[in-house]
Amino acid sequence: MSNILVTGGAGFIGSHTCVELLNAGYEVIIVDNFSNSNPMILDRIEKITNRKVKSFNCDIRDENTLEKIFKENKIDAVIHFAGLKSVSESCQNPLLYFDNNIVGTINLCKIMQKFSVKKLVFSSSATVYGDTSLPPYNENMPTGSVSNPYGRTKYFIEKILEDLYKSDNKFSIIILRYFNPIGAHESGLIGESPSGIPNNLMPYITQVAIGKLDHLTVFGNDYDTKDGSCIRDYIHVVDLAKGHLKALSKIMSSQGLDVYNLGTGKGYSVFELIKEFEIASGKKINYIVGERRSGDLPCVYADTTKAEEDLGFKAKFDLRKMCEDSFRWQTKNINGFEDNITL
Ligand code: NAD
Ligand code: UFG
Repeated sequence: MSNILVTGGAGFIGSHTCVELLNAGYEVIIVDNFSNSNPMILDRIEKITNRKVKSFNCDIRDENTLEKIFKENKIDAVIHFAGLKSVSESCQNPLLYFDNNIVGTINLCKIMQKFSVKKLVFSSSATVYGDTSLPPYNENMPTGSVSNPYGRTKYFIEKILEDLYKSDNKFSIIILRYFNPIGAHESGLIGESPSGIPNNLMPYITQVAIGKLDHLTVFGNDYDTKDGSCIRDYIHVVDLAKGHLKALSKIMSSQGLDVYNLGTGKGYSVFELIKEFEIASGKKINYIVGERRSGDLPCVYADTTKAEEDLGFKAKFDLRKMCEDSFRWQTKNINGFEDNITL
């Protein structure tokens, strides 16, 4: 079975993808600097899968260490999750984001090329569609009208990968544009563990549900949507992880550069998500309605046709399951990975 190097494999989406890879029989090599994750997750991944994971504490910008990893390990393909992802932090410190995300990716690609490892899956985001088209977003729509440095790093990296492929068509690259990943592994052993006050909706809701935060602020109820709140395409992180295995199968057997949305194709409003979470958890979610958050689009959801037709990928889990699994993870890990619960 192939050896897959997973950058950012200790993070939220990376860890769930490692579980799916290991369960499918792949050998996994994680490269992560743990800037937004906890090494404890490695034990959890091993516990879930009953398999060993090789891991390196390494920043992908560290050319010497990364090169050593490529020299000493047989690597057949790379899934590249490593990156910083906070929209607000990227506005305060854009250079950090350009350096970490873009320079990090260039460094990784240079070393891949040097060692003739030419199969790559990259984590992009629906944010690259910006506000020039209307949903459902399909992969042929224009990209680049992004409103923040984080989004710009995704757009620039997409362009860098396109140019890399044009210059060397022995590469086989898939760019995946994620919509809104939520949920957690059913075991409750791995999940999203943001540091500080969460920026994103689901971790905020779960922390209100367990009484860690007092109330949620719904960012605007005066959008031109069914109930005035914003609509997003929430996808279970385990479905998302499985999408990576489909992408991997494709790059292992062909050359080219392709882009795919990973979403469910269904949009839910903030109020609908709160309601579904209340049913799934049996908890009341206190909320107030606040101002709109700058940069938020009213409605974002995917056209999933291309991923279905080319990759055979279709998300399976519904919103109820996403809420149940997020709640289970949060109740078992009140402080995320800081809790170090006995396995
Ligand atoms: P995450 O922060 O949980 O995981 C990212 C991992 O990368 C972390 O473990 C972090 O320590 C590591 N990392 C960051 N910079 C690094 C570096 N220079 N060298 C080595 N490791 C580094 O985030 P996630 O939610 O799992 O997201 C994974 C990828 O998917 C990111 O690229 C993110 O931008 C992208 N994405 C996420 C979402 C989302 O809503 N979660 C949506 C669209 C795209
Ligand atoms: N929201 C609230 N209150 C909160 C947090 C969020 O009402 O406390 C609302 C937002 O206004 C938005 C929805 O919940 O309407 C979802 O917000 P998230 O922050 O969870 O997610 P976003 O859609 O803003 O952003 C996510 C990722 C980005 C990625 C983008 C792509 O966090 O990395 O999807 O569409 F770029």
